[in-house]
Amino acid sequence: METVDDWITEFFIRKGRLFGEVLEADRGRGVEEARQIAALLEKHGVPRGSRIIELGCGSGRISVPLAREGYRVACLDISPEYVEEALEYARSMGVEERVEGIVGDAWRVDELVEEGYNAALIVWTTLIGYRGSPEADVELLSRIRRVTAPNGKLFILKQTDRDLVVTRNAQCRMEAVTSDLGSLLVIERPRFDPVTSMLENTWTYYRKTGDELKLLGKAGFRMRIYTVTELVEIASKAGWRLEALYGDLTQGPYIPGKTSINMVLKAF
Ligand SMILES: C[S@@+](CC[C@H](N)C(=O)[O-])C[C@H]1O[C@@H](n2cnc3c(N)ncnc32)[C@H](O)[C@@H]1O
Repeated sequence: METVDDWITEFFIRKGRLFGEVLEADRGRGVEEARQIAALLEKHGVPRGSRIIELGCGSGRISVPLAREGYRVACLDISPEYVEEALEYARSMGVEERVEGIVGDAWRVDELVEEGYNAALIVWTTLIGYRGSPEADVELLSRIRRVTAPNGKLFILKQTDRDLVVTRNAQCRMEAVTSDLGSLLVIERPRFDPVTSMLENTWTYYRKTGDELKLLGKAGFRMRIYTVTELVEIASKAGWRLEALYGDLTQGPYIPGKTSINMVLKAF
């Protein structure tokens, strides 16, 4: 039987080319999001020039534009292919000296990098919940705590909120969601179990050429999702206290059931 970890290898490595196309299609949006994240970092005492680490950075959609904004960024991901793409992206933007690529498991971050980062970033429903249990997430955030400076900050951004999933489920019964990404079409089939708070999803990828759709492949994931209350509790067990909560990257208000979770935490 598949364990919760197996899907990570399947989704991001074995069939990682499929999701890699989504990351690529989203690069333009990444530039705008990085600008908003830079404003958030500045507001919370992490000015340009600071050392930051993005965990689960993918192909550098956020990390590379943040380096362009002036940050010194460590870009860590479990996929060697995505990290190589991030470094290539950094070279093409002329910021390679401010981007360090690290291939490895975020649950071992303290064994992979030096300590002292001014901030750690986790963006776009990444890592948290992937191993299916709150204990695994306390472990992850504790390890991140070890590599941040004593007054370091943790930014958990664009994180799926259980309240939002429950509301959507009630309104539209989580029917298939279609995302049109230019020459790529992705059909998601989410299923949510309110008892276990596990969200399962299968993504089917198609290439669009004119009116034709060519099936590229299918990959699924299975993750635990949390309410804000649960996430704050998990973070506090790992040495992080909530400093601010927003509904989006533009610092709009957090509204349960309507927005994603965007939280800034400080080390204690
Ligand atoms: C949803 S993507 C987000 C990518 C990036 N944060 C962004 O916003 O474009 C999740 C990323 O986490 C990475 N990942 C998954 N499990 C990981 C692990 N255990 N350690 C490090 N990276 C991991 C995946 O390879 C993928 O690039």
